[in-house]
Amino acid sequence: MALRKKMIVLVLLLLAAAACTIAGASKTKKSEKVCDKGWECKGSVYCCNQTISDFFQVYQFENLFSKRNTPIAHAVGFWDYQAFITASADYQPLGFGTTGGKQTQMQEVAAFLGHVGSKTSCKKHNRGYGVATGGPLAWGLCYNKELSPSQSYCDDTNVDYPCTPGVDYYGRGALPLYWNYNYGSIGDGIKADLLNHPENLEQNATIAFQAAIYRWMTPMKKKQPSAHDVFVGKWKPTKNDTLAKRLPGFGATMNVLYGDVICGQGYIDSMNNIVSHYQYYLDLMGVGRDISGDNLDCAEQAAFNPSYKPSLTSSSA
Ligand SMILES: *[C@@H]1O[C@H](CO)[C@@H](O)[C@H](O)[C@H]1NC(C)=O
Ligand SMILES: *[C@@H]1O[C@H](CO)[C@@H](O)[C@H](O)[C@H]1NC(C)=O
Ligand SMILES: *[C@@H]1O[C@H](CO)[C@@H](O)[C@H](O)[C@H]1NC(C)=O
Repeated sequence: MALRKKMIVLVLLLLAAAACTIAGASKTKKSEKVCDKGWECKGSVYCCNQTISDFFQVYQFENLFSKRNTPIAHAVGFWDYQAFITASADYQPLGFGTTGGKQTQMQEVAAFLGHVGSKTSCKKHNRGYGVATGGPLAWGLCYNKELSPSQSYCDDTNVDYPCTPGVDYYGRGALPLYWNYNYGSIGDGIKADLLNHPENLEQNATIAFQAAIYRWMTPMKKKQPSAHDVFVGKWKPTKNDTLAKRLPGFGATMNVLYGDVICGQGYIDSMNNIVSHYQYYLDLMGVGRDISGDNLDCAEQAAFNPSYKPSLTSSSA
């Protein structure tokens, strides 16, 4: 009898615990309403806001990259709006271009594309190109690969991502990738075999944008923020960050992606050029450069990851 009573108590306790769990689960579900906006954004709380194609349309893409299909460009016919939107569909449910209100969303698209435009421009400096040529900032997406690689970018000491024989790892893509280990790890991230087939980045614009957006959304190291995080305000600087002058904003996106190649060196051309592209795109998108956000540059920031080996972008196209 005593045993039976104990069992009943135990069963009741278990039932109560189960009821609590169920109540808890339905509570979290209720506060995290998810939405579907077709193929472009589905199954996420971020999809309840506007999607990128709601506020960034094909004519805007054409305005931003107006010179990319002129005869002297180097990837004529390669880059297009649809490839960008298709690639972004993997990351909009994670908050890419879908975080916060419309202004933050537009700023993030301008910021990401500012990096892309600067890295793929045929015009490296802001000098010497008149209005007749569209100005120096109209030449983004002019390249999809490095034209005259000086080496094969194979680090044969890397055991995780050994070089495939006969394959070179020169700069390719929307945020150009260099080196076997970068092709290997970014390929893992987007589930594409870039280590064996790096040419995918210069043959398929969707894959090229996927690799670039993946980099924007992914921290370089555990416990560090991504470029996305520092830009949309998802990151709270630690005391160390503040001492190193790393604060949320566009400047810190350059720090995440390029570290001391670009940052902590004053107002150097390569940093100014990325900022100029971001602000030019803000203007063209109708946001305006007045709304570039705080902490626009990284001239005085110490790197999140001080360089110790060739970085992703130690060499540029
Ligand atoms: C959706 O938009 C609202 C207002 O525009 C914003 O406050 C909210 O943070 C956004 N949701 C997400 C998940 O970013
Ligand atoms: C480009 O890559 C995407 C994504 O992997 C794929 O869906 C598409 O079929 C590819 N396009 C071509 C022409 O191979
Ligand atoms: C803060 O910076 C100091 C000096 O550079 C370093 O020794 C320490 O590990 C850092 N702390 C954290 C939490 O990163």
